Amino acid sequence: SFRQHVPKGLKRPPGPRGYPILGNVLELRKDPHLVLTKLSQKYGDVMEIKIGTRSVLVLSGLDTIKQALVKQGEEFMGRPDLHSFRQVTDGQSLTFSPDSGEVWKARRKLAQNALKTFSIAPSPTSSSTCLLEEHVSKEADYLVTKFLQVMEEEKSFDPYRYLVVSVANVICAVCFGRRYDHNNQELLNIVNVSHQFGDVAASGNPADFIPVLQYLPSRTMSLFKDFNKRFIRFQQNIVKEHYETFDKNNIRDITDSLIEQCLEKKMEANTVTQIPKEKIINLVNDLFGAGFDTVTTALSWSLMYLVTYPDIQKRIQEELDQTIGRERRPRLSDRGTLPYTEAFILEMFRHSSFMPFTIPHSTTRDTVLNGYYVPKDCCVFVNQWQVNHDEKLWKDPLVFNPERFLNAEGTEVNRVEGEKVLIFGLGKRKCIGESIARWQVFLFLSTLLQRLEFSVRGGKKVDMTPLYGLSMKHKRCEDFQTKLRFPTKSLN
Ligand code: HEM
Repeated sequence: SFRQHVPKGLKRPPGPRGYPILGNVLELRKDPHLVLTKLSQKYGDVMEIKIGTRSVLVLSGLDTIKQALVKQGEEFMGRPDLHSFRQVTDGQSLTFSPDSGEVWKARRKLAQNALKTFSIAPSPTSSSTCLLEEHVSKEADYLVTKFLQVMEEEKSFDPYRYLVVSVANVICAVCFGRRYDHNNQELLNIVNVSHQFGDVAASGNPADFIPVLQYLPSRTMSLFKDFNKRFIRFQQNIVKEHYETFDKNNIRDITDSLIEQCLEKKMEANTVTQIPKEKIINLVNDLFGAGFDTVTTALSWSLMYLVTYPDIQKRIQEELDQTIGRERRPRLSDRGTLPYTEAFILEMFRHSSFMPFTIPHSTTRDTVLNGYYVPKDCCVFVNQWQVNHDEKLWKDPLVFNPERFLNAEGTEVNRVEGEKVLIFGLGKRKCIGESIARWQVFLFLSTLLQRLEFSVRGGKKVDMTPLYGLSMKHKRCEDFQTKLRFPTKSLN
């Protein structure tokens, strides 16, 4: 393994001594992002830990992470072959499968193009800037109505339950050309339990590294497998309907456009031609899966911060009143004119760091990083939480303060500061939904906050402790309340 054949003149990375057989697995049981941040202070930005008998490289520090994922991008772009990842999309996921060769590259490009065409490319037909704006505006409006309705009926509510359906509806519109009712049980059975996925797919799941654990009964693992099966079945039904109603003169959504690619293989030779058909259509799984959980989590954390810091909520609302007013809806094109809102979103990403690690990477060949030898097929954890709380990069990193991203006058976002926030990964595996995710978070939040004020029943404090996972959630809170800020006619 790792420790044995280190070429002459090179050192292996330092790291904590683990127990025989178990390695460092016991230390990692709770909050691995915090444990590994602490250990990195002692051992440095390039550190080797052991989970079971397997070596894992842990990267910290923005410069080191850039060096690996960007400058040495080819060497660090692989994905490890992990037990849990093999359950995702029958082991064929763009995101989680160990493929990082030509087929993966072509699939990634195809997914990126399809996503762009049906979200942020200028809309040829409608009056909105783009389809994404149209979908988000509609769902955010609906959400305002829904919140007010449950408020009336129940006097308080859990916003996550409704946010997740609205966000899922946006990506459903883009991928499948349809939306679901807030009570649709088939959709709720997936979107409402997405933690069943993130609990197992998170960095450092012991069963991925200690094979004997794969044979022991595990509740989280069987929930994870069931989740993946349900997820595939859900989408297979939709794809089947699309095939049955497909019309090449009316490409309705991403699913249609992927079907078109399969039927015609029309893209310029040497890209699509080499991708097997199933691996084209099932790209929609990756897009839908990545598209609803992350954005919902971002919005849900945003609401948690807004009720915890009512002054910050007020200041965003004042900015919205001054810049957009109360007569029309926010639009995507308003984004550059709302620096405080933008700073709030950046600070929510930084402070929550709800994707504490990227998805694990692996090395595609033997390499050297910061003078340390790293062999081929080495599993790599990238600690985004550490970067976002690094005292070398941030003043008082534990304090929630949107103003850290503004210039002294508060009139502009400091782009250099904003780019230090690491939540979408970097380099060849960087999130392909980054821009649509940022646009969605902006438009959902500004639409909600223009019209609604949020608070917690009885002035209680919400529990902000993150629960570790691929994306970290907070405990659900049933005590949210909301009221209209001003009487509304329908907005333009
Ligand atoms: C990958 C974050 C939204 C599609 C990733 C990764 C992160 C991430 C950290 C892994 C990067 C790595 O392994 O180095 C986020 C966050 C989001 C978000 C924080 C929302 C706030 C989205 C959306 C989509 C999407 C809306 C698509 C509709 C993907 C895909 C990958 C990915 C397909 C896998 C890329 C690959 O393995 O090559 N995202 N994401 N994400 N994301 Fe996102």
